[in-house]
Amino acid sequence: MQVHDAIMSRHSCRRFKHDPVPEDALRRILTGAGQAPSGHNTQPWKVYVVRGEAKDRISEKALASAQGASSLKASDPEFDYYPTDWFEPYLARRRATGFGLYEALGIGRDDKAERGQQMLRNFKFFDAPVGLFITFSRRMSVGTFMDVGMFIENILIGARGEGLHTCGQVAWCSHHQMIREELNIDPDQLLACGISIGYADENAPENVWRTDRADISEWVTFHDE
Ligand SMILES: Cc1cc2nc3c(=O)[nH]c(=O)nc-3n(C[C@H](O)[C@H](O)[C@H](O)COP(=O)(O)O)c2cc1C
Repeated sequence: MQVHDAIMSRHSCRRFKHDPVPEDALRRILTGAGQAPSGHNTQPWKVYVVRGEAKDRISEKALASAQGASSLKASDPEFDYYPTDWFEPYLARRRATGFGLYEALGIGRDDKAERGQQMLRNFKFFDAPVGLFITFSRRMSVGTFMDVGMFIENILIGARGEGLHTCGQVAWCSHHQMIREELNIDPDQLLACGISIGYADENAPENVWRTDRADISEWVTFHDE
């Protein structure tokens, strides 16, 4: 696949088929991800792959906790992904994304129960057979977020090269303590996000729907003279 095609065909997949991800494809994706650039070649990332029973156990615990059916509580965030006070144009884009997804699924804007159910699907990895958790040392600095971001994008684009789809999931960050315990992750490591990976159910409404993008004229200025 051409790089541009891989980039343009990537989208967040929120319904996967149950077909397994071939081991060699997964290893190629991870090897490609590790080729990401990083400041001073620090390669600050770590990846925890969950499949089978390990994945199911984490799903069950996150779901029980999110539904209040467990003494395990969601954890305080380890970092702020979003501002406390949203502002334009980001607020409008955020709203459009939420509304677009719910509309595609036939969920009314005020239907909190159904919206909640859709949110909970995060914790089933949207049915994907493979889940990844991406971490890095909390002793590193802000620049490391850039390095890890590029690493994550390599996974998302690399997956397209294998005919696979992905969904980045910050939703998992509120369960970092449980995930840390389950996977024996060093307390030094900060959970950046989860990623679901598998073959897309291409006809599912949530996968047919697409987010849009601002034209490049909104965020590029060319200076030639
Ligand atoms: C780091 C990261 C975390 C994300 N977390 C979630 C999440 O928890 N749940 C979800 O449904 N989508 C999540 N998304 C998907 C974004 O909503 C999505 O990338 C954005 O709306 C643009 O749509 P697209 O990926 O389909 O182009 C996340 C994306 C990224 C990059």
